[in-house]
Amino acid sequence: MIQRPRGTRDFLPDEMEFRRNTEIKMREAARRWGYREVCTPTFETQELYTIRSGEGIINEMYTFEDKGGRALALRPEGTAAVLRMYVNEAKMLAKPLRWCYLSDCYRYERPQKGRYRQFWQFGAELIGADTAEGDAEAILLADDILRAAGVNYDLHVGHLSPMRAILRDVPEDRKRTIMALLDKKNIEGLEETLDSWHLEDLESSLKGLLEADTTDDVFAITGPIPEQERIESMINVLENEGTVFRQNYGIVRGLDYYTGMVFEGFAENLGAENQIIGGGAYRLAHLFGGDDVGSCGFGIGFDRVMVSLGEVPVPEDIVVAVLYTKEACEYAFSLSRQFRDAGFRTEINLLDRGIGAQMKHAAKKAHYAVIAGEREMAGGTVTLRNLTTGNQKECGVAEAIHGVSREWQ
Ligand code: HAM
Repeated sequence: MIQRPRGTRDFLPDEMEFRRNTEIKMREAARRWGYREVCTPTFETQELYTIRSGEGIINEMYTFEDKGGRALALRPEGTAAVLRMYVNEAKMLAKPLRWCYLSDCYRYERPQKGRYRQFWQFGAELIGADTAEGDAEAILLADDILRAAGVNYDLHVGHLSPMRAILRDVPEDRKRTIMALLDKKNIEGLEETLDSWHLEDLESSLKGLLEADTTDDVFAITGPIPEQERIESMINVLENEGTVFRQNYGIVRGLDYYTGMVFEGFAENLGAENQIIGGGAYRLAHLFGGDDVGSCGFGIGFDRVMVSLGEVPVPEDIVVAVLYTKEACEYAFSLSRQFRDAGFRTEINLLDRGIGAQMKHAAKKAHYAVIAGEREMAGGTVTLRNLTTGNQKECGVAEAIHGVSREWQ
């Protein structure tokens, strides 16, 4: 038996329906904020992702050479391709641009619950609104989308500037190591590393930053920094909107392109892989040949949303099975069409079997059986059976459709 590749999944119809219904709620929330859907190719040149995505992503990329010898990669995340598209196709459009997408992404990670090699991201990018209000909008939108989907989660909002201010005199490569330790809240590792580089004097500021959860705390540690007003304004908008969040200036993010505001969300039911969303402000367009436009956005782990929502619900669709004797075949097709036209999921018998066997099958899959035999065909009627109660009656087609509509008992 051929198995699917490790880290991929198959989705049966009930689960797929649940995914689509959730997707619809998320898209609708995005639509109300003016975010319109875009789509980029599943594969791009490798270079697009190696320019600024950071080592984590580069090491996990699915790369390949096509028959023409081009170095390509499957999309590991949505942002780089969307910004490439902006530079190629849309840089003349009036900004800000509000775009969203639901894209499959590929990362060669160790699979576990909530972590896959093929997964979907519901993302949004706000291009050309490099302001506190733009930062706030990205967070508010993400919060609205997750709540519309029905996810319970904790929202953490931060900014890279305070940490960078504390680390301003540290060489770039060491800065990265320290920031990675802070991101993982690895205090022991942080202490050891700072000691070994004779940077002990930064220890209390960095630890203080991890604990700071108000802007006052943060700026008491860093002193005045140029981004102070922007951070405060963004936090004010979020607070005025009644957003439930905590400030967390220890957020670093795994991708290298972030420049300012950063945020993450952690959901229940997910175990170790509980980060359901990540995002922030960044600059990428200039690296792809465009203008240096400030942008921000986020990626919601759509599969993690689904894991967090839990059990796949029983689909709500009413299912009508159309059963018939040989002579009434064409009549049955026409009845099926009428039930479909009325909006019902209608499945006609396709196999060579008697009414008894058709009924047995219908009882497993449908809520109503519409039976068409010679008598019904001659009279232009149907026999309608409620498969839950066993109630049955012969009536006109319109009455049967009406009966199913109001769940005739
Ligand atoms: P990211 O944090 O790498 O950010 O991914 C966003 C979300 O995708 C994560 O929070 C997680 O929920 C989900 N995710 C990541 N890897 C996997 C996986 N292997 N399996 C299942 N879900 C996963 C980005 O990708 C940025 N492009 C977000 C962004 C958009 N920043 C600005 N704009």
